[in-house]
Amino acid sequence: MKILSFINMKGGVGKTTSVVELGTILATEHGKKVLIIDIDPQTNSTFSLIGLDEWGRIKDTATIADVLGMNKGLSSRDAEYDIKDAIIENVCEIENLDLIPSHIELTFLDIDLSSEPGRENILSRQIEKLTTDYDFVLIDCPPNLTIAPQNALVVSDHIIVPVSPEFYAAIGLPLLINRVNQLKRKLPGCTVEILGILFTQKRNTKDHNHHLDSIRRTCSTELGIYTFQTVIPFTTKISEAAKYNKPATLINPNENGIIAYKNFAEELIITLED
Ligand SMILES: Nc1ncnc2c1ncn2[C@@H]1O[C@H](COP(=O)(O)OP(=O)(O)OP(=O)(O)O)[C@@H](O)[C@H]1O
Ligand SMILES: [Mg+2]
Repeated sequence: MKILSFINMKGGVGKTTSVVELGTILATEHGKKVLIIDIDPQTNSTFSLIGLDEWGRIKDTATIADVLGMNKGLSSRDAEYDIKDAIIENVCEIENLDLIPSHIELTFLDIDLSSEPGRENILSRQIEKLTTDYDFVLIDCPPNLTIAPQNALVVSDHIIVPVSPEFYAAIGLPLLINRVNQLKRKLPGCTVEILGILFTQKRNTKDHNHHLDSIRRTCSTELGIYTFQTVIPFTTKISEAAKYNKPATLINPNENGIIAYKNFAEELIITLED
């Protein structure tokens, strides 16, 4: 089982899109058993995969908020909440694609757990209880490194950093890498490594071409970070898919952006085999 967290403190760079499309492609085209965990209170990957009605049925008892020990009156980790109870199987009728949905309440996780010792290790203890054999667990993180993403870092083998090739990314990347390294030293048992940078939302402009080349160079010569060859282009077909509560891969399987995500899935599998 490979556990991959999609992290960038910068918002709107394609973390959620990458998790949802990659998860769908790994399950449908590669026969992999995939679990997507949404730990972002914005609940974007949740609603890319299930509708409001379904979420309404489980929101009080079976989301990542319960897994991480919130909603104590209902199902606390003191009462040994079981992560398996929060899994929705075969989302969007995709065999092999399961989801642990998020909850907007997760915004208050840091306050709720402020005096809990070991609060960064809750997900790690819960993931040990998974009996289903997943090939991949993909964790969709919020654009910060608070307690929920710290839980993700502790359990993850690898981080993938989606980056839109623009000026702010060039400044933010070294900060993100420093922060991750600091957390690794602080969090006991955290051995996560940055697997690579995935360029997303790439437009064919002089500015994006320049920043893509320059970030690739900085990563290889100064930061020692791999950059995936596959580049995900900007395409409106991806942003339009969200309103259907379905991955774009199911709606526009042959569209440029989705073909790029399919290439990325192949590159990722090969990279992990090396
Ligand atoms: N390749 C793409 N082409 C066009 N639009 C895209 C692409 N990738 C993502 N988007 C759109 O950009 C917006 C931000 O993407 P996404 O939600 O995946 O980013 P994020 O990093 O998860 O954001 P946040 O930090 O808020 O969680 C969304 O509206 C999404 O549909
Ligand atoms: Mg997101």
